[in-house]
Amino acid sequence: MSFHPITGEAGPVGDLVLMHDLSFIERRSQDTRKYLIILIASLGVMIAFVTMIVAQLSWRGWVSGAQALLRGEGLVRPLLPPSPELAPLAADLRERLRDLEDEVRRGQRSLDGWNAERLQSLLRTQLRGDQVIVVVSNREPYSHVRQADGSMKVLRPASGLVTAVEPVMRACSGTWIAHGSGSGDRESVDRHDRVALPPGEDDYLLRRVWLSEEQEQGYYYGFANEGLWPLCHVAHVRPVFREQDWEHYRQVNQLFADAVVAEARSDDPVVLVQDYHFALLPAMVRRKLPKATILTFWHIPWPNPESFGICPWRSEILEGMLGSTILGFHTRYHCKNFIETVDRYLEARIEHEHSTITFGGEQTLVESYPISIEWPLPEETREWPTPEQCRAELFERLGIPQGHRVAVGVDRFDYTKGILERLNAVERMLEKHPEWQDRFTFVQVAAPSRSALDEYRAFQERIQRATDRINARFGRPEAPVVRLLAQHHEHDAVMRLYRAADACMVTSLHDGMNLVCKEFVAARDDERGVLILSRFAGAAREMPEALVVNPYHVEETADALHQALTMPPAEQRERMATLRSTVQEFNVYRWAGRMLTDAARLRLRQRVSERVQRHSGD
Ligand code: F6P
Repeated sequence: MSFHPITGEAGPVGDLVLMHDLSFIERRSQDTRKYLIILIASLGVMIAFVTMIVAQLSWRGWVSGAQALLRGEGLVRPLLPPSPELAPLAADLRERLRDLEDEVRRGQRSLDGWNAERLQSLLRTQLRGDQVIVVVSNREPYSHVRQADGSMKVLRPASGLVTAVEPVMRACSGTWIAHGSGSGDRESVDRHDRVALPPGEDDYLLRRVWLSEEQEQGYYYGFANEGLWPLCHVAHVRPVFREQDWEHYRQVNQLFADAVVAEARSDDPVVLVQDYHFALLPAMVRRKLPKATILTFWHIPWPNPESFGICPWRSEILEGMLGSTILGFHTRYHCKNFIETVDRYLEARIEHEHSTITFGGEQTLVESYPISIEWPLPEETREWPTPEQCRAELFERLGIPQGHRVAVGVDRFDYTKGILERLNAVERMLEKHPEWQDRFTFVQVAAPSRSALDEYRAFQERIQRATDRINARFGRPEAPVVRLLAQHHEHDAVMRLYRAADACMVTSLHDGMNLVCKEFVAARDDERGVLILSRFAGAAREMPEALVVNPYHVEETADALHQALTMPPAEQRERMATLRSTVQEFNVYRWAGRMLTDAARLRLRQRVSERVQRHSGD
């Protein structure tokens, strides 16, 4: 017996009615399902279509959009007939777009990806045929120095810039333009002022530019290091601005810009401009080579608009830098400061969303690219002496008493590095924890730097006085607590020092990035040793597993030193392993690779739009 679903009545008639009703309802609901499916399918198609358009308008979609355009198609094909004018370029660009998309995909996929080979392949695939690369920096990667005995020595300077850029140049070839400052430099170049480097390997060319004493004094010591250096670091040393220095700075920027133009083998080279010595050069190169891709990397911090605003030539500097296609800083914070500075002092269009500035009809992308080091290769690390050997060698060389714990600092002798604050912390730690007296040695390597400047000489004297004071209080004549090694140390000697240490102190008062902390971590394949790192170094953002301190806070830094010296091996290992994987992944090839990928993208965009403009103007 069946029942009417609504009336609840039973019986034969009722059964018939019920059957009829049921089949009617079933048909209705089948129809409804059908309509629903059609509706959902149409909605799906519409959503897919809208998504496709949105994707076309996003960057990745822009690439496909450009591909479609090159095939003579619009967003919905076929809107345009294939253009014969675009045909010769299209095949080449299509291939490049594919490479570029592959590279983007690889970049998103691979976490361990960047190394010299990948950087080379990026150059081959995406910038192939383009002249890669002209690098401009003040400091040269190697200097030739004539020794007292008449022999020639080749030196690597103590410079974060050189540490980072040199491996990139080895991978990329190209030409590096820098100031020839070594006493034997002139004798070591050919008649075009060039020398192949590294010695014996000849991977790239260095073109040396010669400066007169007055030019070096005004441009390098004066405007760059007495003006811009303290201005950007805001480390309680007054910037000095002299008209004469500014004039030399301008002159030398022009000299180097002319050298770039002379070295360029095409009208659109890729030029990598390094640092605050060349704020005016990008616009100077742009005037001569309007199609060049100019990547300027500012290795030091950028201050807030108020601090920067005291520079008498603030507008000229900003305008010079905006000659760049891409302007790179270590951190987002420095990018933000720069954009706000432009906003305050220039009439420019700023697109915060895309981090671009349009000035004088040209667009500059302002982006952060945290610099790093070359991660040591296994064939190199296999040759390293063990930490125990490094320690024994150090103890013997410096006469450190057996059983001492050792902390190290490695810097240029510069007031921004917080060496005085570090020594104060060492002193305070010995006061607070007398158990470390006669059980602890602090080794400070301080490579002499810019010693022609009063401020630097005065600083060196202050450090010497602080060292003497601490040694008089806590050391013995045959076993001083602080060993101040005020001389240049080669890379290998520094690596041995890092491997010998229980802790490494990086206490910069302000630093764009700081590479000492990364080199220390790279040297510790035994996963031991503790890093104490200033929160005011750009590196602190990437390395939170260090003991992060405010170097102005002497108690905090002293406590961190005590904590480092008493940290259990398991905790050291845990922190060090994480730091090592971060630095290994975020290495210098990634730094260069990200910048060059962005450059390739912008070059391609520029070429496509030029071609399209030309085509539509026909
Ligand atoms: O890393 C910052 C930096 O200013 C580099 O630009 C420079 O090469 C380095 O410090 C060392 O300074 P200098 O070249 O004046 O010895």
